Amino acid sequence: MLVSAKEMLQKAKAGKYAVGQFNINNLEWTKAILLTAEELKSPVILGVSEGAGKYMTGYKTVSAMVKAMIEELNITVPVALHLDHGSYDGCMKCIEAGFSSIMFDGSHYPIDENIAKTKELVKIVEEKGMSLEAEVGSIGGEEDGVVGKGECADPNECKMIADLGVTMLAAGIGNIHGKYPENWEGLSFETLEAISKLTGDMPLVLHGGTGIPEDMIKKAISLGVAKINVNTECQLSFAAATREYVEAGKDLQGKGFDPRKLLAPGTEAIKATVKEKMELFGSIGKAE
Ligand code: 13P
Repeated sequence: MLVSAKEMLQKAKAGKYAVGQFNINNLEWTKAILLTAEELKSPVILGVSEGAGKYMTGYKTVSAMVKAMIEELNITVPVALHLDHGSYDGCMKCIEAGFSSIMFDGSHYPIDENIAKTKELVKIVEEKGMSLEAEVGSIGGEEDGVVGKGECADPNECKMIADLGVTMLAAGIGNIHGKYPENWEGLSFETLEAISKLTGDMPLVLHGGTGIPEDMIKKAISLGVAKINVNTECQLSFAAATREYVEAGKDLQGKGFDPRKLLAPGTEAIKATVKEKMELFGSIGKAE
């Protein structure tokens, strides 16, 4: 069932668990994530970066694939199809393509401009019954060409954006896209706590879910995080399983070169990673 992320995130915030956003890159990714969510009766958000959208030939292709797959695989759990770190233009394209949710990443604009652009989008998504994620304070590292310095968000600015009526709010709290460096100082729980106090019921979003220690994930959820984004970890699992298959020479045995065989271990590895995250985030069984 393709839905906006609003209801699933409000339930998660109230129930003190988080819904995973897993980024997709192709058909195998999408299938693995949808089947795992259905098996575990968990709500799920499929994230699409602008780069991945382009790779999959455009948002219309992605939207058509996801909708058809939900139908053909009889997926009954709530699924949101969400633009990740969108530009204003990207948001407009995804609205037109039939996504159910968008993120406008205005964190690199001065706050007044971020507010003005986010406000315009709030109006549009309300009319369409879609959900909108906004961002304050940038996420460190790089994801598909989106580079962030990783500064912590200003809680007062978070409140200003939350008050515009966005569905969910991503706030930088020392989190980074990709692998965390050895000398990473960890999440800033003081910042998270201050943001949570000021923004009340607003579901908060934790980007850079790959490699954050379990205790920090649990603490973040207890302080109001209701959506956690994971991208790199599925890519690493897929790559490791594919490497193992090829290094064992399995592609050279029989019809092991058939893409349906060659990509199967990687697809299974994505399923295992998604399952592990859903267990940690506490979303299993929440779609029942
Ligand atoms: P990771 O790639 O670090 O898991 O981050 C994902 C993310 O935040 C997508 O926006």
